[in-house]
Amino acid sequence: MARIVAGIGSSHVPAIGAAIDNGKTEEPYWKRVFSGFEKSQEWMRETKPDVAIIVYNDHASAFSVDLIPTFALGCAAEFPPADEGWGPRPVPVVQGHPALASHIAQSVILDEFDLTIVNKMAVDHGLTVPLSLLYGQPAEWPVRVVPLCVNVIQYPPPTAHRCYMLGKAIARAVASFPDDLRVVVFGTGGMSHQLQGPRAGLINKEFDRRFLDKFATDPEALTKIGHVEFVREAGSEGIELVMWLIMRGALEQDAKEVYRFYHVPASNTAVGHMILENRRAA
Ligand SMILES: [Fe+2]
Repeated sequence: MARIVAGIGSSHVPAIGAAIDNGKTEEPYWKRVFSGFEKSQEWMRETKPDVAIIVYNDHASAFSVDLIPTFALGCAAEFPPADEGWGPRPVPVVQGHPALASHIAQSVILDEFDLTIVNKMAVDHGLTVPLSLLYGQPAEWPVRVVPLCVNVIQYPPPTAHRCYMLGKAIARAVASFPDDLRVVVFGTGGMSHQLQGPRAGLINKEFDRRFLDKFATDPEALTKIGHVEFVREAGSEGIELVMWLIMRGALEQDAKEVYRFYHVPASNTAVGHMILENRRAA
């Protein structure tokens, strides 16, 4: 039987990917960011999950404004890195897990969460930067990936509560998959940041710290945060944090926080990172 062993929250700042790809990780500005992920890479080497369900958002790379699915599940055998305007990131092609992905699609849709099934999709920095942060620069990614792409680009994104409940449906889906797989769930994006308008550059450390505290111990409190509050407190792009709640919903209620890192800034963005382990399924 498949089981979710842990959840990983991580920002997916594109400049982090560029720093890795251009050999700048040892520069003092970037070293402060990457040092926060050294323990996590160690944890990943020890945990060795078979599959990562990566909840992320596309940044007009795979989907243009012509088509904006709220929840899109990648069921393909592989997902190439997207060309985001300066060529695809020099990272391995992401290997999918079509059998698990199709099972999740069936289970979750029959559980009344309507997903869009995607059989061909390039994946942008939203997905590949967290992989780089947790795995470094391997020749091949040592994990298969089920991408779950969420619309946080165009209003209205799904609510925090909807995301949390979808996570629970995903946990039920994974638990009913017959193969013996150890699964981790990534929630990516955030933390507070705003890239445009008069408040461009906004970072709210107090909000982020409160979010991380509640995320670990009382995630249901976060499901009550509305879109206006997210935008007011965490900036227009801070709404990406709803994706962390899909991951949290997929974990046990009393999942144990085993690692946390918070750093400001990385390219005008607050970087947040947390690892939670399930107590029973691990
Ligand atoms: Fe993003």
